[in-house]
Amino acid sequence: MAKLVTSFLIFFLVFIATSITLIKAQCKYEMIVNTGITKGPSNIKLGVIIEPIGGEGNINTTNLIKNWGAMGRGYTYFLPNSSDRFRTKLPCMVDNFCWIGIKGKKGELNPHWHINNITVSTKGSGGIDSLKTFPFLEEIETVYPYASQGECP
Ligand SMILES: *[C@@H]1O[C@H](CO)[C@@H](O)[C@H](O)[C@H]1NC(C)=O
Ligand SMILES: *[C@@H]1O[C@H](CO)[C@@H](O)[C@H](O)[C@H]1NC(C)=O
Ligand SMILES: *[C@@H]1O[C@H](CO)[C@@H](O)[C@H](O)[C@H]1NC(C)=O
Repeated sequence: MAKLVTSFLIFFLVFIATSITLIKAQCKYEMIVNTGITKGPSNIKLGVIIEPIGGEGNINTTNLIKNWGAMGRGYTYFLPNSSDRFRTKLPCMVDNFCWIGIKGKKGELNPHWHINNITVSTKGSGGIDSLKTFPFLEEIETVYPYASQGECP
């Protein structure tokens, strides 16, 4: 009986340890924003929300350029016809991306900003190997709160 309780306890501890490891597993994310013929917002407080299938553990960060910007100091983001890279490290997602939203405060997402597409990718220890391009191919019409693309099943 004591042996049974011990093995059960060990099983339970391993289970907890595994769960904690899964929660804390960090993945590298990369996002590439391909802009079109018009200039985007120069404001640097834009946020990004990326939702995985199932909706659990979505990415929701503010200050995209400060926290994710990977183009170096002094670079001007969202100029016409450019390809801007963003990188960050966050907890791994549990499934593939299905929706992306770019949000700004009122007036921060300039209308007439043309986004061609946004590619998001991640690889990581959490069994995630996800890559998706969201084709916007349009002017951002929404000023507030989201310009979004994608559909979650
Ligand atoms: C994304 O847009 C760029 C031009 O801005 C284009 O070269 C590229 O092929 C597009 N990618 C996809 C996957 O549609
Ligand atoms: C962006 O590309 C388009 C189409 O190739 C071109 O007409 C436009 O002049 C370019 N804009 C800039 C600022 O380079
Ligand atoms: C993202 O986070 C902000 C606050 O941090 C919250 O107001 C907003 O509703 C969140 N959006 C989504 C889609 O989770």
